[in-house]
Amino acid sequence: MDEKELLKRAFEVKENAYAPYSKFRVGAALLTSNGRLYTGVNVENASFGATNCAERTAVFKAVSDGERKIAEIAIASDSEEIIYPCGICRQVLLEFGEPGMKIICSRNNGEYKVYSLDDLLPNAFKSINIRNEK
Ligand code: THU
Repeated sequence: MDEKELLKRAFEVKENAYAPYSKFRVGAALLTSNGRLYTGVNVENASFGATNCAERTAVFKAVSDGERKIAEIAIASDSEEIIYPCGICRQVLLEFGEPGMKIICSRNNGEYKVYSLDDLLPNAFKSINIRNEK
């Protein structure tokens, strides 16, 4: 599947976003290294902090199905500006992204740019930084 097709899926699923508070609808579509496709939307809550972003919804669906490696993810919204994953989502993408994972960031007219996690999350805190030594 090419970048444009994955992005199309992100735009399609955006229609399912549950965003009654912000009215900012986001859709995400990802491909795992096994070639499986998962989509997600932002799911808001009256207790705003309980909101889940579209990117994490898609990642958590994939991981729940036993998928552990993400090859690429596309993100779509209604914004005239390109939107990028939030900080928390970048950290979650780091956990499950293949090295060189493509992050396809778009604006509402379908224009997009492709980034790597090195671009979006330099000097990241990684699992290898965790030492359980006293
Ligand atoms: N949101 C996402 O779903 N993904 C992003 O990349 C940015 C923000 C959602 C969270 C919230 O529901 C709304 O957009 C406004 O922040």
